Amino acid sequence: MANKYDVCVIGAGPGGYVAAIRSAQLGFKTAIIEREALGGVCLNVGCIPSKAMITAAHFLHKAQHEAPKMGINISGIDLDMGKLVDWKQSVCDRMSKGVEQLLKGNKATIISGEATFKNQTTLSVKSSKGTEEVTADKFIIATGSRPIEIPGFKIDENEVCSSTGALAMTELPKKVVVIGGGYIGLEISSYLAKLGSEVEILEASDALLTGVADKDCVQVVARKLKKLGVKVNFNTFAKKYVKKGKSFEITAEVKGKETVFAADKILLTVGRKPNSDQMGLDKIGIELDQHGFIKVDPQMKTNLANIYAIGDIAGQPMLAHKASHEGVLVAEVLAGQNRVYDAKTVPAVIFTDPEIASAGMLESECKEQGYTDLKIAKFPFAANGRAVSMMEPDGFVKMIADKKTNVLLGVHIVGPEASNLISEAALAIEMGARLEDLALTIHPHPTLGETMMEAAEATLGHAIHMIQKPLKSKSNGGPTAHV
Ligand code: NAI
Repeated sequence: MANKYDVCVIGAGPGGYVAAIRSAQLGFKTAIIEREALGGVCLNVGCIPSKAMITAAHFLHKAQHEAPKMGINISGIDLDMGKLVDWKQSVCDRMSKGVEQLLKGNKATIISGEATFKNQTTLSVKSSKGTEEVTADKFIIATGSRPIEIPGFKIDENEVCSSTGALAMTELPKKVVVIGGGYIGLEISSYLAKLGSEVEILEASDALLTGVADKDCVQVVARKLKKLGVKVNFNTFAKKYVKKGKSFEITAEVKGKETVFAADKILLTVGRKPNSDQMGLDKIGIELDQHGFIKVDPQMKTNLANIYAIGDIAGQPMLAHKASHEGVLVAEVLAGQNRVYDAKTVPAVIFTDPEIASAGMLESECKEQGYTDLKIAKFPFAANGRAVSMMEPDGFVKMIADKKTNVLLGVHIVGPEASNLISEAALAIEMGARLEDLALTIHPHPTLGETMMEAAEATLGHAIHMIQKPLKSKSNGGPTAHV
């Protein structure tokens, strides 16, 4: 039967397309169904386009504000927003085409359309060409998440934008109100401010990035936002908005009082929710948890024996790389390999200025896990030659280790290329490394990577490029031998 597959993946984001490629590599007759563009939210309206905009804005800001300090005077800089958005789109299109080539090259069948379960083994797929049925032995649900809306704010991607609408704006708004100071709100606020918009953030809690990032790291970003002119209002609950001519008036509750904020654009970034209310999942009896995520076991299997779920729809953290990891895992489970989800850490990156990246536990999480005696130290980028020569001295690498064993428990970086530095920390944590493993590994000079080695030394009490007080005695501060 033409439409009968061994494995059928629904959703072609970084979870789904990876699962399809790995399934096909393992010899399964594989189909992947996608209703929009290949690559999903991440590649088309999320991670990749936002990084393109962030790169461009950083470039512009450096040319305007930092190049003159290096003796480079660039005159006549201006922004062609239409051209910038076209370039950003070309990046997405190129990556999406790459996914298509990879799927085809691995002989996975791509089906365009919207899938709904008819029963546990059959999908109905609707597209502009009509409706077709697809059957498979195993299904992998990878249909992701979508932005949450709050009362008074309906996302129409015109007046009230999610990240999708914000990334598609061909005109730079004069004044933007961003509701929600989390991952998305801060990434977009940073680049819009650098491109020249006036940005004001309304955050319901009393801090930015509450509970998801190290507080010391967040402080560095908060200072930079202030320098960029971004205003942050805490304890501010957005309630409603009205149109006033071409602009908007947003009413928010601040400590029991109503306050009005003006804007030309509203950006709503108050979190995302799983797409588990779609696709007839209730009809076939897929079990969800209290937050609407599909319940899965450590092999990503749902309560139905032939159906698996991965990525945002299968639980936190809603991060692309977790989805891809699960995509490989689930295909290997289907092939009978001895795999379970047992990652010690899912590193996370927030592409603010400077970037924040983390692997392992926050200090509070260490305590919750029973690590009461900790060694914690920071090594600043201002003491790293490469960071200073890049004119990026802000931030630090913070390490948290178990005091008794020196085993690394958490690494929190705020600073230049934190996104690229964190992989070393993730590997160290996966390997159960001790501070000495990082401190005694020769790191090339002059590189930002040396901050990892020096942060480990600092946590042991003897970093070279910073003065640590009180100075440790030879007996308790020297490098200890590996055992
Ligand atoms: P978020 O959960 O990170 O932040 C939402 C913020 O909105 C919170 O600080 C919350 O207190 C605030 N909020 C909620 N209701 C509010 C109201 N009525 N008024 C004012 N503030 C309110 O959500 P966000 O930024 O939408 O991101 C969603 C998810 O997308 C993240 O959890 C992350 O997993 C993923 N993501 C990952 C990125 C990366 O890896 N670099 C980038 C962007 C998103």
